[in-house]
This record gives sequence, C-alpha cells and structure tokens, in this order.
Amino acid sequence: MARETWATRVGFILAAVGSAVGLGNIWRFPWVTAENGGSAFLAMYLSIVFLVGVPGLLAMFVVGRRAKRNPVGALRELSGSDRWGFAGGFLVFSSLVLISFYSVVGGWILRYLGESLLGVLTGSVPYFADPGASFGAASAGFDAVAFHLVFLTLTAFVVVAGIRRGIEVATKWMMPAIFALLVGLAAWASTQSGAAEAYAFYLRFDTSVIRENFFGLLGPAAGQALFTLSLGVGTMITYASYLDEDRSLPFDGASIAVLNTVVGVLAGLVVFPLLFSLGIEPGETGTGAGALFVGLAGAFAQIPGGAVVATAFFAVVALAALSSAISILEISVSFLVDEYDLSRRRAATTVGGFVAVTGAVCALNTAVFGFVAGTLVDILLTLGLAVCLVFVGWVMGRDALVEFRKGAGPVGRAVSTPWLFAVGVLLPTFLVFTLLTTFNVDAEIGFWPTVAAAVVVAVAAFAGLRGERSLV
Ligand code: PHE
Ligand code: NA
Repeated sequence: MARETWATRVGFILAAVGSAVGLGNIWRFPWVTAENGGSAFLAMYLSIVFLVGVPGLLAMFVVGRRAKRNPVGALRELSGSDRWGFAGGFLVFSSLVLISFYSVVGGWILRYLGESLLGVLTGSVPYFADPGASFGAASAGFDAVAFHLVFLTLTAFVVVAGIRRGIEVATKWMMPAIFALLVGLAAWASTQSGAAEAYAFYLRFDTSVIRENFFGLLGPAAGQALFTLSLGVGTMITYASYLDEDRSLPFDGASIAVLNTVVGVLAGLVVFPLLFSLGIEPGETGTGAGALFVGLAGAFAQIPGGAVVATAFFAVVALAALSSAISILEISVSFLVDEYDLSRRRAATTVGGFVAVTGAVCALNTAVFGFVAGTLVDILLTLGLAVCLVFVGWVMGRDALVEFRKGAGPVGRAVSTPWLFAVGVLLPTFLVFTLLTTFNVDAEIGFWPTVAAAVVVAVAAFAGLRGERSLV
C-alpha cells in the first residue's frame, strides 16, 4: 500500500502545531516564566526557541521529508548505515518513555474535565501528592491507571484512523477550538478583579533571577524549549515524512513556533488573573507547575459560574494533551508499519499494550513518575536532538541543504548555509553544554570549565564522524 500523505499544507502545519501545543504550554510554561522573572525569562526562553528550537525543527523536517520514513528507517536510509538506524531506535525508545508519563497526566486532565462537566470539581485534588515536582506529582492510585487507559485509548483511535482521516481531520478542528477557547477564557479572565495585579506579576521584567542564576536557568529554559516544540523524539521527523509537496519549510517552522508560543502566553493570561482574583498567591499551594493546577481546581470551585469556565479550561488542556499524545504515538506506529509491515491497527495495539503497562507503572509509583517527568525526559530529548542535528550537519551535509532549499523563498535560501553550520556545529555544542550544566548545577564546576568540556565532547563527536561525510 502506498504511504499516506497529508491532504493539505494547512493540515500538516496544524498537526505539527497540535504536537507542539500541549501540556508543556499550559501546564509548565506560565509557571516557569512567572517563577523565573516574568518577561525577562520569556526573553531568554524565546531566544532559545528561535535560535535553537526553530533551526532544530527545520532539521527534523529536512530528515523526514527527504527520507519519507519513520526515524529508524530515515536515519538508516539517508546514511546507508545500520549504526544510524540504532540512533533512530533511540528516538523511538525515548518516545515510548515520554508517552508513558504523558498519558498519565492526560488521564488526570480527562478526569478534571469530567468532574468540571458534572459540576463536581471540588478542588480536593488527590493527584498531586507532591506539588513540588515539575510536572505536578505522581498520583498513586488505580483511578489514575484507569484514566490513563482511557486517554491512551482515545489517542490510539485517532492514530489507527491514519494520517488524513485520523490525525489531519482531528487536529484541524482541535487547534482552532483551542485558540478560540483560550482567547475567550483570557478575555473573561481580564474582567476578574485580580487581573491587573496578575499581569504585573506574570509579565514583569525582572532580570534578577537570570543575573543570579543564568547558569542554572539555561538547562530548564532549553529543556522547556525542546519539549514545547516536540523536539528530540522523532515526532517532527515522522510528521514531515508524510509531506509530498516541496513547500517552504522555513515558513512552516516559523509558523509553528509562533503559534506554539502564543498558546503558552495566552495560557498564562488565563491562569494568573484567576488565581490572583481569589487571593491565591502563586506558590501558596506549593511551588511548581503541579501546584498551579491544585490552585486552579480549587479556584474554579469558588467562583460563580466556575463549572463552565473550568469545563472550557480543561477542554483546552485535554485537546492540547491529546493532539500531542497522538504525535508521540505515531512515531512508534509508523516505525512498526514501515519496518515490519504491520497494519496501523496491529501497530497501535502493540504499542498501546506496551504503553498501557509502562504508563501504569508511572501512575502507581511516585518515584518513577517524578524521575521520568522531571529528569529523564529532558535528558532524552536533549540527547536525541543533538544526535539528529549531528546527523543532519555531518552525514546529510549537502543533501540537507538541497532539501532545505526546496520550495524555500529567497530568505530561506539565504539562511540555508548558516542554518546548516548552526545545526552541525553550534547547536549540538550548546545542547551538550546545557546537559553538562544540568549535571553541574550542584557541583558548581563553573561556567568556563563547562564550556570547555562541551567543546571537547563536541570535537570528539565530530572527529568520530569524519569517516562519514563532511559538512557541506
Ligand atoms: N510539545 C508537547 C508539549 O508541549 C510535548 C511533546 C514533546 C510532544 C515531544 C511530542 C514530542 O506538551
Ligand atoms: Na508545546
């Protein structure tokens, strides 16, 4: 059977936006921003999104569109070497780790949505035993397993239906719905009594946190930037593999990054006015993103008409989570379909069965959940992206340039060579650097020694690749 393709360009962009816009935007972004100096942190984060994230996104598109295969097949075929197939396998593995915890959080959101619809969202939140963890905290309970399974099943249904009739159709209405609901919610929130105070808090330009702890913030800012753009697990390679027309990739990449950022900013404009109006100091229910949701669930219970607002809000979060989970599941499904000739249904039930179990482990064990959501995923994504970038810069080289330029306008063509240099040299070095800082934060090894170590690792990696093919 011929490999499927997107029916429309908008379909591809919206599916990719659907992947990007997720729990990261609504759950993590407003909180991280507010905690680390408001718009000063936003400036730092945006720099990383556009200097590292967008070039990285384009690198993934180049791989996918050129190979028209899943990450394993793509890296193997474009390099002609099985070794790179294993690198692709690492991405698929990471995607399974990611969806295991993502589906658990998605399940909690479905439960919130259900409770809001029924008007029984109490604000007593059994799900956040330890609000300090970056993604909220683990629940330990069988109801968490049950909701995880419901969420996973919904995700699998869309994936089984295929690219055009499943993912494209679904995300084409989900994305506009998310934007419309969020704008409506933000408008409503602006009428709340705490709005002015909330904006001042959320958007204050406070550089003190950055100046004091630039080094320590780099890791979280980079981690958030990769996570939010769905980089490092092969989602964007997979989605781009279903492109058949050669249209401008830089345009698509920039649109996706902008829309993704807009959703994050809007989410903060909804969340903080609500909390401030009720006199809930962000941080009062603990610190971290999970606490935000504890506070919110409580807040909805207190305001008149809260059930309606809560329903709209959790509908947004649920749609965002679902469209991201779809893109994560599609990675391993496309791998099984391409490489082992399974039907989509067989592939999805195989992966789904596996993730049902690994997700249940996350749902039942606080320590596992915290480790996966808080540490492991950031490390896997950073490593995965670094490997892909080195691949594009040093193995694809000239081919990557050719693919990048297809359909690109004059601006796209002009930036293509600097882009390849960034992808092959600057960005992997930066990513290795952030990884080292993440490990170093406590050791306090210092800035320059870490830079030096990052350069050494990068040079060693490039030297190891010399036998492959040279950059440009
Ligand atoms: N971008 C998604 C979010 O912000 C998470 C994600 C990461 C999705 C990697 C797919 C791949 O929630
Ligand atoms: Na995102």
